[in-house]
Amino acid sequence: MTEQSDAPTTPETPEAPHDPQATQGLENLLTEDRRFPPSSEFAAQANAGADLYAWANADRPGFWADQARDLLTWSTPFTQTLDWSDAPFARWFADGRLNAAYNAVDRHVEAGRGDRVALHFEGEGGDTRTLTYADLQREVSKAANAMAALGVGTGDRVAIYLPLIPEAVVTMLACARLGAPHSVVFGGFSAEALSSRILDAEATLVVTADGGFRRGNPSALKPAVDEALAKGAPSVRHVLVVRRTGQPVEWTPGRDVWWHEAVDVASPQHEPVEVDAEHPLFILYTSGTTGKPKGIFHTTGGYLTQAAYTHLNVFDLKPETDVYWCTADVGWITGHTYVVYGPLVNGATQVIYEGTPDTPHRGRWWEIVQKYGVTILYTAPTAIRTCMKWGEDIPAGFDLSSLRVLGSVGEPINPEAWMWYRRVIGADRTPIVDTWWQTETGAIMISPLPGVTATKPGSAQVALPGIAADVVDDDAKPVPNGAGGYLVVTEPWPSMLRGIWGDPERYRDTYWSRFRDLYFAGDGAKKDADGDIWLLGRVDDVMNVSGHRLSTTEIESALVAHPWVAEAAVVGATDETTGQAVVAFVILRGDAAEAASSDAATVQETLRTHVAKEIGPIAKPRQILVVPELPKTRSGKIMRRLLRDVAEHRQVGDATTLADSSVMDLISAGLARPA
Ligand code: WTA
Repeated sequence: MTEQSDAPTTPETPEAPHDPQATQGLENLLTEDRRFPPSSEFAAQANAGADLYAWANADRPGFWADQARDLLTWSTPFTQTLDWSDAPFARWFADGRLNAAYNAVDRHVEAGRGDRVALHFEGEGGDTRTLTYADLQREVSKAANAMAALGVGTGDRVAIYLPLIPEAVVTMLACARLGAPHSVVFGGFSAEALSSRILDAEATLVVTADGGFRRGNPSALKPAVDEALAKGAPSVRHVLVVRRTGQPVEWTPGRDVWWHEAVDVASPQHEPVEVDAEHPLFILYTSGTTGKPKGIFHTTGGYLTQAAYTHLNVFDLKPETDVYWCTADVGWITGHTYVVYGPLVNGATQVIYEGTPDTPHRGRWWEIVQKYGVTILYTAPTAIRTCMKWGEDIPAGFDLSSLRVLGSVGEPINPEAWMWYRRVIGADRTPIVDTWWQTETGAIMISPLPGVTATKPGSAQVALPGIAADVVDDDAKPVPNGAGGYLVVTEPWPSMLRGIWGDPERYRDTYWSRFRDLYFAGDGAKKDADGDIWLLGRVDDVMNVSGHRLSTTEIESALVAHPWVAEAAVVGATDETTGQAVVAFVILRGDAAEAASSDAATVQETLRTHVAKEIGPIAKPRQILVVPELPKTRSGKIMRRLLRDVAEHRQVGDATTLADSSVMDLISAGLARPA
């Protein structure tokens, strides 16, 4: 039960911006002089012009109030914009009322756009489904009625553990329709991780599937739900199960209900529940620097405003003609904001794809772009780097000429990958928007505007109109151009997290105590000579593997929960494809250590599998190194910086603050010996 470990909620303050990689990279970053201004044709037709900055700067709250009125339909209009009197707890548009699902679905149907395609679903095996906005309205209403019949009321939490199939989108919107906050748990997380999230949110319903398709095979989901609930989950009354793969499932009568039996027969009429703007829309768990994931929660009015605004302006969406595709799973914030809420509130037509990019062949994504005529593509640097590795002749085999805007998210994009993306996928023509944001920020914060900004490969560049971000030093002073420090947000924004579920103090400690009155994002950043922002990766103990956030502490807790392990230290080591990779250093217990000396491979494999079981396959260490000691300061803090040097095969840096300075020699000597 690692995630239940009651690790103290210490303020998640960073060491100094310690990443030596970052400093080395700075030279290159600051000499990057390639610029890609938008073409005059693109600029002329763009949704957002330079005037958007002036408008927002003139009156920031007023600007957001205008966006909220223009982009959303309110059942009760708001008269207040921002209440920051109880900072850092923000209230936006607080006396307004609305429903998120109504905004994402019904109003488009009412406006005569019911025939527009909302979702082109592409299953991994090639099965497809098309849902128009009218279809979506019917499906969401039926699901809302079925869930209400299972006892879900306004304010109840619903856990969602589904593959990327239309039912995932439908279930999220059905929750929104009822005012029942959803907590989506990525299907790649383990039963253990699912259990702790269900318990923390006290979910009353779990929506899952028998399984999904992954690399050509059915991959079960229901057994993880059964296992999670067997650990005890007093709040859960029902499990609603979508039949996707047809694989056999265990059944608990009275608790388990088939989707096709409950939803298909439900009435397609459902009145959306009007909620306050500050009513919680969802909880999404993300890794912090302690062992316990944080339930980040977002509310309705402000979140939807910024989701719609950013989606419209950053991607230059033209809802009548664009075909938009964000490759994220709905288990991550990118899937919440840029698969579900942003695009649907804007009435977009989009593609969702269930599977992996290389099933059944490495051109699958490009085949999908060609098939649906995708015009806007939003993906992660790790995927771009993987495609680079596979070779450019693969995308060259498909017609990608429909593309007109490319987006990147989740981790810093290195200039080579940026250039490749633009040249090979974008035919040297499409603007690239490198978008910086977080689960906590809810929506994009820093990004070029495609019709305005002369883009620079590798830089997210500027805060969006309406957003105030800066880079500060240890004393919270803005750094001059050319210098580095910590990224902060200096003014509240509509889609900001409203807190950590059930733990307001941890919210204050984590984000608002490092620099008083400034939101501390946990990222290191630099300003270049023009004042543009370059993101340099995390400065805390959070790793970013393939754009997924993982906590070093959480993986360490999982490792020490294994009977063989006495102590563990985990670092994120630079990896060419995944950005960072998990490397674990473990000290084995006496008896296990003896066995390990003869069979290191078994120890490694056992521990890797153990981590996958405790957290999920995404957290599996790339490497596990058995060591006799760990480098610690006199106060007992593990010096991960030194371990990172070892993991990245660098000369070990300054070790003078170690309690025992010979430890690094011991570690290096041990690793040099063949296992
Ligand atoms: C990183 C994902 C550089 C960053 C939306 C942040 C980025 C963390 C970028 C949040 C980017 C995200 N450039 N780094 N464009 N986008 N990050 O919560 O370290 O999964 O703090 O949200 O990803 O990850 P999360």
